[in-house]
Amino acid sequence: MNDEIDIAAIGEDVPLLAGIRTTRSLRRLEKDPVPKALIRKVCEAGTFAPSGGNRQPWFFVAVTEPERKTWIADRYRPLFHQYIAPAVEAARDPAYSDSQRKNMQAAIHLADHLHEAPVILFVAGWTRAGRPQLQALMPAIQNILLACRAVGLGACLTQIHLAVGREIDQYLGLPENCPSCAMIPIGWPKGRYAKPSRRSVDESLFWEKAEGIPTKK
Ligand SMILES: Cc1cc2nc3c(=O)[nH]c(=O)nc-3n(C[C@H](O)[C@H](O)[C@H](O)COP(=O)(O)O)c2cc1C
Repeated sequence: MNDEIDIAAIGEDVPLLAGIRTTRSLRRLEKDPVPKALIRKVCEAGTFAPSGGNRQPWFFVAVTEPERKTWIADRYRPLFHQYIAPAVEAARDPAYSDSQRKNMQAAIHLADHLHEAPVILFVAGWTRAGRPQLQALMPAIQNILLACRAVGLGACLTQIHLAVGREIDQYLGLPENCPSCAMIPIGWPKGRYAKPSRRSVDESLFWEKAEGIPTKK
């Protein structure tokens, strides 16, 4: 893929609900560059999200330079390995589910190869009362993930970097009143979009009154 592709047309033919049902995290990415116009297109999808009072709190920082991606990856990798260590231990149990194991392996792969992602996109937003507003950015973030699905780009919502958020935000030029809330590595996927593993909606949907919701697993 290169800049000659028709950016305006790409992804416009994916039916909305079919796209939603087949959007999953794609963390194994090719190293080939992604046209900047396509990153602009998925960020534009983000800007069509709803926001409180239509304040549109979002800002996007797309990192593509190798040394800048390496700097970010060098911070994400140790944090992620620390976070995933208990799951790695738990996965030694043969009873650990295959889909969980695959998900974990893909997440570890991302942590070890983050510097190779063509684009590391940060979604930041204005604080309210001095607090980051993740909830205000989530609709925009989901729109970006769906737009990536539509145009065929692999993407995954991540947040582990928040443990060193201020350090990364300073590196990205983000002021204190506009912290990053999500980091989305983006690139052409090695895998395919497909229906993700989910429990049936019938286990979650109630009419008039909820009944028998299990205690947290
Ligand atoms: C708030 C939030 C934070 C997440 N943080 C990370 C992360 O730091 N690293 C990662 O690899 N995946 C992260 N994920 C992705 C989830 O692990 C993933 O969505 C989940 O395992 C389901 O897999 P699927 O998206 O392929 O269906 C995050 C997802 C959400 C919603």
